[in-house]
Amino acid sequence: MGSFNDIVHNRKQCRGFVAKELDEDDLEKILEVALKSPRVSSETDSHFIIVDDKVQLSKLSDCNDIDSYLLKDAALAIVVIGNSLNNEFWVEDGSMAAVSMLYMAEQLGIGSYWVQVRKRGYYDGANSTEIIRGVLEIPEEYDVLCILGIGYAKEQGAVSEDCTKWENVHLNSF
Ligand SMILES: Cc1cc2nc3c(=O)[nH]c(=O)nc-3n(C[C@H](O)[C@H](O)[C@H](O)COP(=O)(O)O)c2cc1C
Repeated sequence: MGSFNDIVHNRKQCRGFVAKELDEDDLEKILEVALKSPRVSSETDSHFIIVDDKVQLSKLSDCNDIDSYLLKDAALAIVVIGNSLNNEFWVEDGSMAAVSMLYMAEQLGIGSYWVQVRKRGYYDGANSTEIIRGVLEIPEEYDVLCILGIGYAKEQGAVSEDCTKWENVHLNSF
């Protein structure tokens, strides 16, 4: 089990999955960090829809014309949603949960893939959120932030160039 430092340095977006199911305990660990992640108030929650049904996964993999197709081969997807009517910080809350899940997956040797949903859709104007709402029967007051594809990575990608921009860190003023 790597240190948090190792996890941060090694985590990479997974761009291909092998056909292998996820261990239930591992899924529980991933979900637990989402449920324990920092949020704006204990009164507000994100919700997480686990999709492991292949037909449903295939429908989700068609929610945009950019990169959602990769979801088709994931062991499962975790759809991160929030109540945008009663929580103006649903995006921040959901993002904290999503990033926590990415790091926990990495710690467990599991690949993850972020498909952005909010403000995304098809070039022809179809809206990803509305497509997913229909597939998963999500109530109107909830909005979809992202879908995480989760599974075992097909191949380890080449180690990419270090793009750590230390110049983006400022001391005392911009
Ligand atoms: C808010 C957010 C939205 C993202 N949306 C997508 C996406 O729609 N499709 C995708 O392939 N990757 C998406 N990513 C992943 C980034 O493209 C990826 O993290 C970035 O290229 C850096 O690569 P790395 O994660 O391997 O370091 C998203 C990441 C974040 C934080």
